[in-house]
Amino acid sequence: MAILLPGGAGYIGSHTAIELLEEGKEIIIVDDFSNSTPQVLETIRKITGKDFKFYEIDYKDRAKLEKVFEENEIEAVINFAGFKAVGESVEKPIEYYTNNISGALVLLDTMRKFGCKKFIFSSSATVYGEPEKIPLTEECRTGGTTNPYGTTKLFIEQILKDIYQSDKEWDICILRYFNPVGAHKSGLIGEEPQGIPNNLMPYIVRVASGQLQELSVFGNDYDTLDGTGVRDYIHVVDLAKGHLKALNKIEKEGKGLYIYNLGTGTGYSVLDMVKAFEKTTGKKVVYKIAPRRTGDIATCYADPKKAKEELDWKAEKTLEDMCQDSWNYIEKQANRK
Ligand code: WQD
Repeated sequence: MAILLPGGAGYIGSHTAIELLEEGKEIIIVDDFSNSTPQVLETIRKITGKDFKFYEIDYKDRAKLEKVFEENEIEAVINFAGFKAVGESVEKPIEYYTNNISGALVLLDTMRKFGCKKFIFSSSATVYGEPEKIPLTEECRTGGTTNPYGTTKLFIEQILKDIYQSDKEWDICILRYFNPVGAHKSGLIGEEPQGIPNNLMPYIVRVASGQLQELSVFGNDYDTLDGTGVRDYIHVVDLAKGHLKALNKIEKEGKGLYIYNLGTGTGYSVLDMVKAFEKTTGKKVVYKIAPRRTGDIATCYADPKKAKEELDWKAEKTLEDMCQDSWNYIEKQANRK
């Protein structure tokens, strides 16, 4: 029995693929390389020394997806095939709603057709909108998303709740990621944003490497300790391990709809991140204070207690690991060019 990973060549998918293979699981990756490259697959094989099946298809292509289910015994699906760039989603809402929501529906319908009802979904802390309270617990109010990307996550969560309501044979686990950063310790896979990055860590790394001139710190007048935005940065390998724990839960216990925050429970400001990065890597990060970015909130971090209690999962990596591994990946990339 295999675990199907649509979007498994992407940033979080590839790190999760490695953890699954290292745990001895059989996996199948489906990807159309819309935000990844075939090279990633070879790297996963190289790191783990293990092989897996791969299909180059768009997960929205029902006929081709059905073929994957026909040819394999699929036990569970972890869906990483969502588009995830906030800014781009504002420019291209139709593409985002089509890929993320229609895609999820094609996938879920196909799963139902083949009697596969174990599903893990990559959601996001963005579903909390303006936080009701800090730290955020899974019971906090959701809604008020400020961009189509976030709204697709919110809608898919609702779709999953409705599906579970209609058929209690499903085992569904919704994982709300906080701010994933870092890379595999090998430095061979990591985040590869196309064009100028939107997210903080990829931007910091590119300023440190000289690819970009300076970081704009979006606002220093928030109600936080140093006035800059506070987030819950989580190492991508910790995040990947969270999927393994979620899978264990739905394989063993089954029958339910579960929601977990995957965060560290600690908030760091933009300036904390700059300082930690400089201290860990010895590289200078030139920055200037710029106006606030529309749609940003002051503070967002998780209460990760529920995942600890119910999944026995806890983020282990430090802020230094996140900085070092992000940098290591970029350095290795530069050397390969
Ligand atoms: C973090 C902090 C910025 C860039 C988004 C999505 C979320 C998730 C992760 C994606 C904020 C500040 C940033 C820069 C800055 N999804 N910043 N200068 O906005 O918390 O979350 O990405 O895949 O759903 O909403 O993350 O990394 O963009 O910003 O000062 O150049 O860094 O204002 O305080 P965010 P981020």
